[in-house]
Amino acid sequence: MRTPLIAGNWKLFKTIDEATGMVKELKTLVAATAGVEIVVAPVFTALSRVADSLTGSNIRLAAQDCFWEEEGAYTGEVAPKLLVDAGCSHVIIGHSERRQYFGETDETVNKKAKAAISAGLTAIVCVGETLAEREADRTFTVIETQLKGGLAGFSADQLAKSVIAYEPVWAIGTGKTASDAQAQEVHAFIRSLLVNLFGQSAAEAMRILYGGSVKPDNVKGLMSQNDIDGALVGGASLKADSFAAIANFAS
Ligand code: PGA
Repeated sequence: MRTPLIAGNWKLFKTIDEATGMVKELKTLVAATAGVEIVVAPVFTALSRVADSLTGSNIRLAAQDCFWEEEGAYTGEVAPKLLVDAGCSHVIIGHSERRQYFGETDETVNKKAKAAISAGLTAIVCVGETLAEREADRTFTVIETQLKGGLAGFSADQLAKSVIAYEPVWAIGTGKTASDAQAQEVHAFIRSLLVNLFGQSAAEAMRILYGGSVKPDNVKGLMSQNDIDGALVGGASLKADSFAAIANFAS
């Protein structure tokens, strides 16, 4: 059985005070939530303080990106071991906004994911097609290229420390969620690719999250699909009550 993972990606929102204020509320709302891994991903500058606020709770901490080198003359970058130092257990890698605006490629995703895992982090590797790609019937080709590139050279052990997030770009922040069936179709395709690349049991153990306009009122349907093992939530993760409602999808 795969433990569901509900991750909140706060993107470029919230000051330190806003972030710690929200987790204070969230902690209470999910204190009784069992059998679900809950993760929040604030901006870099809030990580350490949010980590302090999360001490003793069942909520874990993620960064939204990282670099692949441990240290050196790389102005502006943050190394995976510094994320661990700040209290992170997870890191999001290859989000479509990073691919779209910051030149992230499958190759950099692969380098970052490997570096994150060797620092002890769980890498949440994002893939997803644009609307133009879906309309041109290229969804499966795009996902296959991103997945193979992102996980290139992975050992079984590295795979076990990863999570895949399928986020159709056309569904992110648009209010247009993929239907349960549309999402399940791609999730099943991703799992079949993982079977081919890493074998049946490794693929069965992998968590594949759905992201793109996940809300309290559509999470149940998505989570009832065979190959959907969690959610990567943007907008609806910014408020404690809506994010808690998503994390409590099973109750
Ligand atoms: P959204 O964002 O929930 O606001 O669509 C999801 C994401 O970008 O991870």
